[in-house]
Amino acid sequence: MSEADGAPTDDSTWAVHFPGNLRWSNAMQIVKGMAPYAAVAMDEVDRVGRRLKARAALASEASGQRGNSIVRAHSASEDARKRAGDTRPEPGSSARAGQEAIPPDEPDAIKWILDAMAEAVNKEYAAGNRPAWRDAHAKAHGCVKADFKVKADIPAELRRGVFAAPRSFTAWIRFSNGHGKPQDDRIRDGRGMSIKLTGVDGPKLLAQEAEAKTQDFVMISSPAFFIRNASDYVSFLRASKYHVPFVFFMTHWHELRAANAIVEDKGGEVFEQRYFSMTPYLLGERYIKFSARPVDCGTGAALAPSVASPPGGPDYLRDRMVAWMSSKDACFTFAVQPQTDPATMPVEDPTIVWDETKAPFVEVATIRIPKQRFDTDAQQSFCENLSYTPWHALAEHRPVGGINRVRKVVYEGISLLRHKLNQSPRVEPTGNETFD
Ligand code: HEM
Repeated sequence: MSEADGAPTDDSTWAVHFPGNLRWSNAMQIVKGMAPYAAVAMDEVDRVGRRLKARAALASEASGQRGNSIVRAHSASEDARKRAGDTRPEPGSSARAGQEAIPPDEPDAIKWILDAMAEAVNKEYAAGNRPAWRDAHAKAHGCVKADFKVKADIPAELRRGVFAAPRSFTAWIRFSNGHGKPQDDRIRDGRGMSIKLTGVDGPKLLAQEAEAKTQDFVMISSPAFFIRNASDYVSFLRASKYHVPFVFFMTHWHELRAANAIVEDKGGEVFEQRYFSMTPYLLGERYIKFSARPVDCGTGAALAPSVASPPGGPDYLRDRMVAWMSSKDACFTFAVQPQTDPATMPVEDPTIVWDETKAPFVEVATIRIPKQRFDTDAQQSFCENLSYTPWHALAEHRPVGGINRVRKVVYEGISLLRHKLNQSPRVEPTGNETFD
């Protein structure tokens, strides 16, 4: 099996985000032998066993507490699960509800994840092969300059952070594939849209980059992430390390559905996709998610993917971007989705989509990408060296939830590592860069 089939040829952390083409994992299991499979499987069996024990304990406690308040039922649930050593949020538990709740084992899980990923990156590039790509979303179709215009008629409670007043920001937008290696665009994959606003005043959240003048919004072409929390991410990475991610998915069907939705072929090109934050954020005091929707620059009408299957070569998304940008502008609306029901719109579980009919999106900005030449070596190299992270942010846009807390540590750590390996300085852009 070759890289062109969508399968990694080594231990790369290709599966950081998305399982890519899940179909090859069965074959990999046979190739790699049963020992690691057994180790990971036993881990999962053990985990499921602990969960079942926790449920049994909860059931017996609940039967003795009939008529008690929801709060007591919740704490019974928490206690029973804790006794069984299970920190996974359960439906209806406080961690699954609409508040931030940090599981006690999360810091250890985050450290484990960063160490495992850094180890894999170091191993991948030990032979001196360069460049060191991003460990996820490695392939950029291109970075384009855009105008991000904050609207004047935003509801008062959402006029926070960069949306406080109507104005324009110059933005650098990077479009990418989700895979951890640059791969053929015809292979099933999620697409990324990362927006970096420049000229943003005010202290930023990352201690090392508190003075930076950028605010990032990182999105993917699907609304739900496929991992609920840090502890599940550890299980997933362990299985992926042994090339048996299906072992994780065998006990996580809901996650498998989300993973498949991410990589499904949505057709069209990058300027015709809708992109989602997947994870929640603060906007002032409100929890929100956000989304960019493609629109016709002239009429403002919503655009849908125009092509069902991808004609063209391995870089067809970039080729089409070049063709589009040579003749016309591309436009998006940018909207936020304030949480309206904490019980059904969790903050700690990004596999759950917040129902748009109950929590409507509110447009707060428009994005115009003027026609331009972007496919030069100099601009592509600038694009590679950029670092996007949800944590390049003002406090009023603070990322929330366990997966975002993982990302705080991992994006910074892995970006530092790849820049070190590439011997390239890490610099936040000003918006004044030119590449002619
Ligand atoms: C625990 C979960 C996650 C981990 C460990 C993770 C890890 C990473 C890493 C290591 C990078 C490369 C950073 C760099 O070298 O600059 C990256 C990039 C990216 N991630 Fe994630 N990620 C996670 C979840 C998500 C989620 C939920 C989204 C949803 C929007 C997402 C979207 C992206 C995008 C679009 C990029 C490319 C950014 C760019 O254009 O430079 N990731 N991720």
